[in-house]
Amino acid sequence: MSISHQSRRDFMIAGGAALAGMTLASRAARAASAEELKLGLIGCGGRGTGAMQNALLADPNTRLVAMADGFADRIEESLKSLKKGPAKDRVSVDDGGKFSGLDGYKKLIEMCDVVVLATPPAFRPAHLKAVVDAGKHCFCEKPVAVDGPGLRAVRATCEEAAKKGLNIVSGLCYRYENKKRETVKRIQDGAVGDIITIETVYNTSGLWHRGDKKDWSRLEYQLRNWIYFGWLSGDHIVEQHIHSLDKMMWVMGDTPPAKATASGGRTVRTDAKYGNVWDHFNTVFEWDNGVRGFSSCRQWENAITAVYDNVYGTKGVAKVQEHTILPSGGDAWKWSSEEPDDMYQNELDALFRAIRAGEVINNGDYMVKSNAVAVMARMSAYSGQTVTWDQCINSDLSLVPEDLKFGDYEAEPIPVPGAKGRRYF
Ligand SMILES: NC(=O)c1ccc[n+]([C@@H]2O[C@H](COP(=O)([O-])OP(=O)(O)OC[C@H]3O[C@@H](n4cnc5c(N)ncnc54)[C@H](O)[C@@H]3O)[C@@H](O)[C@H]2O)c1
Repeated sequence: MSISHQSRRDFMIAGGAALAGMTLASRAARAASAEELKLGLIGCGGRGTGAMQNALLADPNTRLVAMADGFADRIEESLKSLKKGPAKDRVSVDDGGKFSGLDGYKKLIEMCDVVVLATPPAFRPAHLKAVVDAGKHCFCEKPVAVDGPGLRAVRATCEEAAKKGLNIVSGLCYRYENKKRETVKRIQDGAVGDIITIETVYNTSGLWHRGDKKDWSRLEYQLRNWIYFGWLSGDHIVEQHIHSLDKMMWVMGDTPPAKATASGGRTVRTDAKYGNVWDHFNTVFEWDNGVRGFSSCRQWENAITAVYDNVYGTKGVAKVQEHTILPSGGDAWKWSSEEPDDMYQNELDALFRAIRAGEVINNGDYMVKSNAVAVMARMSAYSGQTVTWDQCINSDLSLVPEDLKFGDYEAEPIPVPGAKGRRYF
């Protein structure tokens, strides 16, 4: 793991490395261009199953051969669903291709050409490194890390992938939606003038809970209910609101804010079954050029819900989630097209198109930066301090135990800003 000090300027995946990787990838892809590609899924839950379905549909010469999950029942459920899906004839996972437990991913990677990573984010740095070390291509769900060491590790792995010419397509899915691409392009081309402020909101209702069982160890309980444990999910500002913060970063040309000042807490979801995460966050992001981003996210039952991103500029307002631009003078613009635009399918289509064409997509740069923006805001909210970008990406506070074993693993208490003896970044 590379944990050297990083500044804002050098925290990016080097373009030179990506180019060097192209040649290698072209060779690898020429060899693979006509071959059947063997697929593997690590993390066989809702999203992993959906992404694997999209992967199979993206390329007719693919076959799902291996599945890994912490728990055998999740593999079986996912397999059952894929075997009923439109690509069922190419779902060929026999007992030798099923890997339950925390280390099964290693054997899966050996068997596959392309791997889908969809466990809780705490494990993504280790899983992505194993995929790239083995020279395989990857679809990598968001988030990719929950802490500073994880962010730096993923960044180093993405650089390694660029050198090796391996594809890493990120599950920050809005970047693969054509209507968002066109809206963001127009903003970047000046449709609302210079950006002054961005307002980004992800207020949703509550999410699932998978209950508890007497024979589950405390680690199993946490893994099955991972969204409620900060060390596994990063809290919902990282796990869910990352999509909004990614849109904010995209509009800002992927230049990270200098600092974040956040607050939040746990006012509705107070029961012990909700682990140690909070249920709302509010953050002010500040860029060096004076732009400010105001962000709000919550997961509250029986309250109004809203998901939107407004970009206010010197010449108008863009409503990114509604694909609408309202200039102060002149005509409004709204995306309109009858063409299919399923972002979940688009991202897997792009991955397989690149592999077949001998091209390289490496989404590492924005994948890590947008994730870091979310982690920075959480660090600020938990600590009650303003947290700078440099403090976030250089933080040595690791939330994820190195050698995790099934047993009675205790999670940290609920974060309290200003609490003596606790560190949040
Ligand atoms: N892009 C999107 O729109 C989108 C939507 C939903 C979820 N996601 C992301 O996808 C990921 C998975 O989310 P989900 O909703 O499918 O959750 P899920 O709980 O349904 O699936 C996660 C699976 O990972 C397994 N798992 C846990 N720890 C593991 C480990 N160490 N090794 C192997 N398997 C392990 C769990 O048993 C579970 O089956 C998360 O990172 C989430 O943020 C993205």
